[in-house]
Amino acid sequence: MRAVVVYESMFGSTRTVAEQVAAGLRTAVDQVDVLRVCDADVATVMAADLLVVGGPTHAHGMSRRRTRQAAANEPTRYNGKGVLEPGAEGIGLREWFRGLPPLSGPAACFDTRADAPAMVTGRASRGIARCLRRAGVALVDQPRSFVVDKAGALKAGETYRAQMWGKALASSSTRSPAR
Ligand SMILES: Cc1cc2nc3c(=O)[nH]c(=O)nc-3n(C[C@H](O)[C@H](O)[C@H](O)COP(=O)(O)O)c2cc1C
Repeated sequence: MRAVVVYESMFGSTRTVAEQVAAGLRTAVDQVDVLRVCDADVATVMAADLLVVGGPTHAHGMSRRRTRQAAANEPTRYNGKGVLEPGAEGIGLREWFRGLPPLSGPAACFDTRADAPAMVTGRASRGIARCLRRAGVALVDQPRSFVVDKAGALKAGETYRAQMWGKALASSSTRSPAR
């Protein structure tokens, strides 16, 4: 079985969650690839038996070119470290989904966002889930959020939670059908 985790990240928190989800998946899945959205080619995605997609919440939803540009222009305004991830100024998930052919098979998604009720913060994972359904995949779990503090760093316990979620996804995806 092969799982592919595709992520978008400006400052690294969503990448860290993606890596931890992958670590959890590896407890039961032979091959797990973690790809930046700009490197996630169609062939690799189509070969996945399980696809996991995650991105940061920007302006209450999935990032847009202008929100990524705003973050790139003033990194310290949005993140304590103020250091952009490699590829951060490339495409985002929204554009990536537009270039995908119809897909099939199981998928799951997540976002990172501020630590407040989703009604206030919005959540990118709602949009990601919609894009995945439109692409033709079946979501095997509800969209998940992992929260960051005011400086944009993942809050305590979120990396562990991400790993446990990856583990749960792996066991539900590899479980034999009930007889
Ligand atoms: C331009 C911009 C807009 C943002 N808007 C929101 C928002 O509406 N809601 C929210 O919860 N977080 C918002 N954030 C915080 C991001 O969700 C947070 O920085 C992100 O989860 C960190 O992920 P990354 O380190 O992978 O980029 C925004 C961040 C940026 C840069």
